Amino acid sequence: MIEKKEGKLSQLIKLIAQSNRLLSGEELGAILGISRTAVWKYVKYLREKGFKITGKTNTGYKLIEPVDTPLTIIPSDIETNIIGKEILSFIEIDSTNNFAKTNWKNLPNGTLIVTEKQTSGRGRRGRIWTSPFGTGLYFSIILKPSLPVITLPRLTIVAGVSVALALERLGVLAKLKWPNDIMIGEKKIGGILSEMSLEGDEVEYVILGIGINVHTEYDCFPEDFREKAGSIKSETGKYISRNVLLKAILGIFENLYTSFCKSKGELGEIRTLWEKRAYRLNEYVEITTGLAKEKCIILGLKEDGALLIKNQEGKIKEVFAGEVLF
Ligand code: BTN
Repeated sequence: MIEKKEGKLSQLIKLIAQSNRLLSGEELGAILGISRTAVWKYVKYLREKGFKITGKTNTGYKLIEPVDTPLTIIPSDIETNIIGKEILSFIEIDSTNNFAKTNWKNLPNGTLIVTEKQTSGRGRRGRIWTSPFGTGLYFSIILKPSLPVITLPRLTIVAGVSVALALERLGVLAKLKWPNDIMIGEKKIGGILSEMSLEGDEVEYVILGIGINVHTEYDCFPEDFREKAGSIKSETGKYISRNVLLKAILGIFENLYTSFCKSKGELGEIRTLWEKRAYRLNEYVEITTGLAKEKCIILGLKEDGALLIKNQEGKIKEVFAGEVLF
């Protein structure tokens, strides 16, 4: 039951979750523009997905236990002015980035697209982003900034710092592995996929896609990735509410993004925040740039978002495109 546009299912779960009384099939059907039988079918599907909904179509439906699902977040839950002022939520979709890329024209700056599951979640470099139901955060933010094009890749840094700060607020220490990985210890627990489109020198959109394994189990990851992947739960033992985490990220991101835009795409203080949380700063790591692989020390981040490294011959270099290996 994949939803192609924000579907009745996610609207239905929001209605049921936000109501403190029983809502009848008739009432729900009237709001959603569907029949009572359709409401019943949707409720059945949601129950199969683990939502504990009590009641019958004539007596009314109610959530027995509050569920921690980003599907129930509404704009007034988030203390922001731009980010998440429009929210589209899905039970299941191919990829929130794909949806954002197809629909950005009709959606305002700051729109949040969030889903419980992705069937074709994408990572960087054509990799798959495993996105099982109900365990992680998978979302995209559509941005339409008026910034010099050259500054746009720095938005990945802004997003990474926002995730790390939000996790710290919840008592979880994460590190940032350049350019887009969120690490706890030696395990990757999150990543950022930013995609953009330009029309000449003008920015049409930047889509920031963020994936975080919150309580994803080890055996959900593809076998060849298990050694490197983890979740907040598996690495810290802590159960973090996905809704609380998402709201914290959006609030922090809005502040950092606003100051980034005000300073015309200069990282400023965000650079220091990143360096303080850099994975393996001042340590030897392997870095790939194109086809080359080299052992280098990470010295820090440059103002333009490039990684500053020193190789074994003592030569200092800047890396604009590449990857820090484990
Ligand atoms: C990476 O580490 O390679 C980036 C992973 C990004 C995953 C997120 S999940 C939400 C959004 N939709 C996608 O298909 N990918 C991003």
